[in-house]
Amino acid sequence: MRKNNSLTMYSTLTSSIDISSSQRGNTQGTEWRRIVRNIFTSCQNIVHYFSNWIYDGTRFIQHSGILQWKSDCNSLLAWIRADIHKIEKGLALAQPRAGFGNSILMRLGKNLSEISRLDYSLSEVDRKWALQTLREYVHVQECHSGDALEARKLVEILENEAFVSNSPDHDGLIPISGESYQVARPFHFHEFAWSRYSVRQFDSARPVSRELLVRAVDCARKSPSVCNRQTVRVHLFEEQSQVQAILAIQRGNAGFGDQVPVLAVVTSDLSQFFSPDERHQMWVDGGLFAMTFIYGLHSEGLASCSLNWCQDVSRDQQFRKLGYIPSQESVIMLIAIGHYPESLKVASSSRLPVEYISRFHSL
Ligand SMILES: Cc1cc2nc3c(=O)[nH]c(=O)nc-3n(C[C@H](O)[C@H](O)[C@H](O)COP(=O)(O)O)c2cc1C
Repeated sequence: MRKNNSLTMYSTLTSSIDISSSQRGNTQGTEWRRIVRNIFTSCQNIVHYFSNWIYDGTRFIQHSGILQWKSDCNSLLAWIRADIHKIEKGLALAQPRAGFGNSILMRLGKNLSEISRLDYSLSEVDRKWALQTLREYVHVQECHSGDALEARKLVEILENEAFVSNSPDHDGLIPISGESYQVARPFHFHEFAWSRYSVRQFDSARPVSRELLVRAVDCARKSPSVCNRQTVRVHLFEEQSQVQAILAIQRGNAGFGDQVPVLAVVTSDLSQFFSPDERHQMWVDGGLFAMTFIYGLHSEGLASCSLNWCQDVSRDQQFRKLGYIPSQESVIMLIAIGHYPESLKVASSSRLPVEYISRFHSL
């Protein structure tokens, strides 16, 4: 609206000025040059966009599990985790349906035997999680006189793998009471969230202890992820030669990159995705992980600054050539980490009002 008004004003003003025909010719020439330049830049952008798009798509096809003839342990593992989680989700409903998830259990069985055919065994965490979930499933089905045959077979297979779970842990289902929710209440998340800023000055003389970094990663691993597949990885660089080699490729650290003590590269393992519909999932899971990680750093008293990975093919490949991350991982973003200096200024980065960004929909 405002733009239209200013445009009208502009055209009224220009038409009221009496310009000579040579001046008019010059103005028209400049206008044509502007149009041609805009068309040329737009075409360049389209070509650039599609070459990046082809690169991303090719990487997804190459590294994810969508090519079904590739019997890859990582994608089998991803299927197994997703299916265990589907069963777990069904059990967490207020009233689980008798005999639910039979097709999921059959697929789980098929993938478990495929993974053992490939001579690969589940990690203790995965096996324990699967076993507890399936035991819970059998228990719930038996209470509801449902069919638990398939699940019982799987429990036997997993028990035969010489795995014995003695620990009374939480895998499967966790009973939550209103009281347990209240535990988190004294912590003022609202104030905590508003006290975080992107920091672009660090006390580079003060080393960052690994203990603090590990605690922040520990927070981040509690981030939600699709089917609990946990595809996100974080690579931590403390050596200045490595930090600077990566920052030289990233665009967005000018003026402070040389002071960054620790650099985190957040990635997502594409081999854990098995459907073309999941092609954007890495960005979502990666973003959620990165945010929790940043809050984890903030809670440990560490300063951080998110750094974009809006890279084209050549820069992404330049980074890959450094050999720091496996080829099946895609970079989500970087995070500069360090201690706060004695005093500093941060950009205010003011936010749009709540009523501008949110809308309640009612009938
Ligand atoms: C994915 C992502 C990429 C970013 N990239 C950069 C960057 O390259 N350089 C930079 O100085 N800040 C970067 N930022 C920081 C933003 O400028 C900052 O988060 C935003 O202005 C809000 O300010 P705050 O973080 O202080 O609340 C990035 C933030 C995000 C989430």
